[in-house]
Amino acid sequence: MGISKILVVGATGYLGPFITAASVRLGHPTFALVRPATARPDSSKKELIESFKASGITILEGDIQDHESLVAALKQVDVVISTVGGAQLRDQLKLITAIKEVGHITRFLPSEFGNDPERSVRLKPTDAVFQGKVKIRNAIKAAGIPYTFVNSNSFASYFLASLGQRDLTTPPRDKLTILGDGNAKVIFNSEEDIGTFTIKAVDDPRTLNKQLLIRPEPNIKSINEAVLLWENKIGHNLEKTYVPESEVLKQIEGIPFPNNISLAISYSVMVKGDQYFEPGPDDVDASELYPDVKYTTVDEYLNRYL
Ligand SMILES: NC(=O)c1ccc[n+]([C@@H]2O[C@H](COP(=O)([O-])OP(=O)(O)OC[C@H]3O[C@@H](n4cnc5c(N)ncnc54)[C@H](OP(=O)(O)O)[C@@H]3O)[C@@H](O)[C@H]2O)c1
Repeated sequence: MGISKILVVGATGYLGPFITAASVRLGHPTFALVRPATARPDSSKKELIESFKASGITILEGDIQDHESLVAALKQVDVVISTVGGAQLRDQLKLITAIKEVGHITRFLPSEFGNDPERSVRLKPTDAVFQGKVKIRNAIKAAGIPYTFVNSNSFASYFLASLGQRDLTTPPRDKLTILGDGNAKVIFNSEEDIGTFTIKAVDDPRTLNKQLLIRPEPNIKSINEAVLLWENKIGHNLEKTYVPESEVLKQIEGIPFPNNISLAISYSVMVKGDQYFEPGPDDVDASELYPDVKYTTVDEYLNRYL
């Protein structure tokens, strides 16, 4: 087999464009399944779709709810990467049915791109995300579809750029709130690097039916360590307020949907340290497999905000 043809379902979301960009950059014929309304010339995503076309991506109109459109799209490709959002996780069962029906897909990467859902604390608000992802994992295995699960850990622009502040998009310069004691190890990756490592894995026999761990050593940092790096860059200390674990749990109970989900994920990541686990036999490390990838370190990433 030559270089695989890749279909991205969810290409017009937040993560999708980083995945399609990496797919094109690494030379894969790349296809995006786009909902008809999103593909229309009056859509708010018109410019994004135009940029896809300009970079050589083939737009296939379709919908995860429309079986025929899925089958028609799958017939054109070898590999499927789903980057659908939290609300569509369970709809991927329809994608699994279509992949099983066509029978020739060499790899399916479902919408994971975060914590290992089987190694993350179970709280009611995150059930839809973590349990939804586990359900899809089980359905893929039961269907005998070749897969790779991408354990990308924290998107840097969400968790590192804000130094863990859920209401900020750039690092604070005066004060910040730290969940727990701030010592749990978090793993931060730029979305560009997540795209690159993901695409590197799609044709690699070493990642077949494995979880790809994206955890370069310099990107494993506690919030306290990341804050210290930032303080050294800006030349002064921040005022820190630590929120004890019991108080974080109380807040998760008290705040409405959907903010309770993001706080519960932050609890898993920053208080429980769920991203930093001992790899098992089904895990492979992206930095070991692809030592040639020049990724952005946490230290370098923070320089973007100086
Ligand atoms: N690790 C982290 O820090 C982190 C942070 C955020 C997200 N994530 C994970 O990353 C993954 C992607 O999340 P995201 O935030 O990028 O998702 P998103 O922005 O919500 O994107 C959803 C995508 O799914 C498409 N879609 C929705 N309904 C569809 C349907 N019926 N048929 C076909 N496509 C449909 C949307 O298309 P339209 O453009 O037509 O709406 C859009 O392209 C998720 O698994 C999420 O849990 C991880």
